[in-house]
Amino acid sequence: MNLSHKVLRQFILIAIILTIHVIHVHSQTIIPVETADNAVVLQAGVNGDVSCVYLGKKLRSVTEYGQITGVNRQADDYTGLYNSAYTSSGSRNLLEPAITVTHADGNNSLDLKYVSHEVKKISDDVSLLTILLKDPVYDFEVTLCYRSYFRENVIEQWSRIIHHEKGAVTLQKFASANINLQGNSYWLRQYHGDWAREMQPEEIQLSHGIKTLDSKLGTRANLFMPSVFMVSLDRPATEDEGGVLYGALEWSGNFRTDLEVDPQNDLRIISGVNNYASPYSLRSGELFETPAFLYTYSAHGKGFASRNLQSWARNHKLLDGKGTRLTLLNNWESTYFDFNESRLKELLQDTKRLGVDLFLLDDGWFGNRYPRNDDHAGLGDWQENRKKLPNGIAAIAREAQANQVKFGIWIEPEMVNPKSELYARHPDWVVKQPQRPEYYFRNQLVLDLSNSQVQDFVFQVVDSLFIKDPALAYIKWDCNAVIYNAYSVKLKNNQSQFYVDYVLGLYKVLQRIRAKYPDVPMMLCSGGGGRVDYGALQYFTEYWPSDNTDPLERIFIQWEYSYFYPAIASSNHVTDWGRQPLKFRVDVAMMGKLGFDIVVSKLNEQDLKFCQNALKTYNEIKPVIWQGDQYRLANPTEGSVASMLYVNADKDKAVMFNYLVNSRYGEGSRRPVKLKGLEPGANYRLKEINFYPGTNPLVDGRVYSGDFLMSLGFNPDVNTNRTSVVIQLELVR
Ligand code: DGJ
Repeated sequence: MNLSHKVLRQFILIAIILTIHVIHVHSQTIIPVETADNAVVLQAGVNGDVSCVYLGKKLRSVTEYGQITGVNRQADDYTGLYNSAYTSSGSRNLLEPAITVTHADGNNSLDLKYVSHEVKKISDDVSLLTILLKDPVYDFEVTLCYRSYFRENVIEQWSRIIHHEKGAVTLQKFASANINLQGNSYWLRQYHGDWAREMQPEEIQLSHGIKTLDSKLGTRANLFMPSVFMVSLDRPATEDEGGVLYGALEWSGNFRTDLEVDPQNDLRIISGVNNYASPYSLRSGELFETPAFLYTYSAHGKGFASRNLQSWARNHKLLDGKGTRLTLLNNWESTYFDFNESRLKELLQDTKRLGVDLFLLDDGWFGNRYPRNDDHAGLGDWQENRKKLPNGIAAIAREAQANQVKFGIWIEPEMVNPKSELYARHPDWVVKQPQRPEYYFRNQLVLDLSNSQVQDFVFQVVDSLFIKDPALAYIKWDCNAVIYNAYSVKLKNNQSQFYVDYVLGLYKVLQRIRAKYPDVPMMLCSGGGGRVDYGALQYFTEYWPSDNTDPLERIFIQWEYSYFYPAIASSNHVTDWGRQPLKFRVDVAMMGKLGFDIVVSKLNEQDLKFCQNALKTYNEIKPVIWQGDQYRLANPTEGSVASMLYVNADKDKAVMFNYLVNSRYGEGSRRPVKLKGLEPGANYRLKEINFYPGTNPLVDGRVYSGDFLMSLGFNPDVNTNRTSVVIQLELVR
């Protein structure tokens, strides 16, 4: 073969490759979902299969998304379904499915093919992509929904399932999302916990096969494990480096997330309501809408992902995320169940003296036949205890007004003690197996919220509080028990719908409450942080991270929550837990929504003065903490110092919190801590704030450039004599 032949042959070969490639590209429908920095790229193939071909940093040119599938050289995908956008089972699939059904005729196969897609612009920030998929054999369809938040780089993904078969179809598995990541290795950061030990992190490299994160607890679903997690690509991401995906299910019940490293070394993530004991029967024409799975990807480490998620929460999800919050005095740890009207009157005076906005009356105010004097009795009987409150809540509310403070109250309306009038009156409202012994969690049982009568009851518990006190300014909604012996009298032969219908029932009640009382702040509490998720947080203004209020522990717990939730949502109370000085306790509680649960009358003069001043300081800096960008500067798990910074949007105000987390001899901030998020060219005046009366602040009015503070850093001089130091930064004009 001479040279010209060779060139010609090569030319023909290239032409063939190009043609095939062009045909290949043209025959695919590429559907990119883009945000400010990222893209999820879906692709409908010639055969109608829809795949998730890319999730990561977005490309400059949309047209290049069509080239993505051509660049990988992985092993064969025998099925063409490994990276399916919603893996259906029973046809060609070999891996973990997103959806499994039993059709009306008993057949278990499903194959979902692309029909059409549509993008709707909801606002300048928000778009909704829907992709309609249909089974060619059965009259069964799924619409994949992707709501993207452009500025915040967040996507919420869920599915709508409907069929028109001749009888009911059973949904055996019905995930919200099925996404696909490509990396050389995958590093999962997950959380486990128990009472007073919430958000304990663990990080592992994922190996082939499936790692499942799940909950089967029903209520208080996060007690052992929350649904939040993160996956880093290639190596564990740091605060500012590395690709990392954060994920969470917006669901306040059983969840299940499967992370599967597949035969092609891709990571398949399938997340949704846990199908454990939950096959769901769907009538012809009935719509089943899954909750949303939310995710955000960051190519610049965890800090960027957190700030995106926190802004998203404040702008779009958390109730009143851009609003204000009330500081408060809670009586749980100062009185427990032991109080009466005159003690509460004293506490209301203390509330005023301390200088907080509101008094929060906790557990123990109700029950007559079975008074709530400990946690064995009374839950369900939401009438004021006549001995403790002979003049009712109205009298306490009046007293609050007289003291010019607001009043809030604790409830746990989903639960019942067997020792209660409610239990005797409505045994059929209680979740328990008809033929098995009862088994209790904190001496109580759960009410059956899948029953609409129970939903009405729970709504009325809240409504009647507002009738008694129209000025009621705050509710703490607790949920202390998990579900044992799951069984609903109401659901009769449809028991497997119970776990799902419970949560849907809970949301119905919360929607009714919010329709009537849209603004009242409510704290989401579950014996600590047993129910912290964005499904619930759209109805709540804040959450209770943990009953563990030891400030040293809280530094770690709040740190981990901060990856996923904004500071404005974190209720932090100063209590007597732990051995740290009062200043340390107050400083830690300031990194969120500040409250107190101490005996104010027992504070000595200096301590009281300090708290009063701290509240004034807090009122000045809280806009920066609540709405500012958060930067985790020094990680308490990596050294002796923890340091957290909040910077406002204009970058002219910031607050830096610093703590000693290791009390061994000579420990302290040996090196300066590098700040972030400042204006490099601007000058900032630094001053120590919130110091204890009689102590001298070490930093007063020194000026540094943003460049200096971010390149060399600032040393807060944290040491065994100064275990917590708060620094305020103000731009010098
Ligand atoms: C559990 C909560 O986490 C506590 O703060 C307190 O409200 C108790 N329940 C009351 O029983």
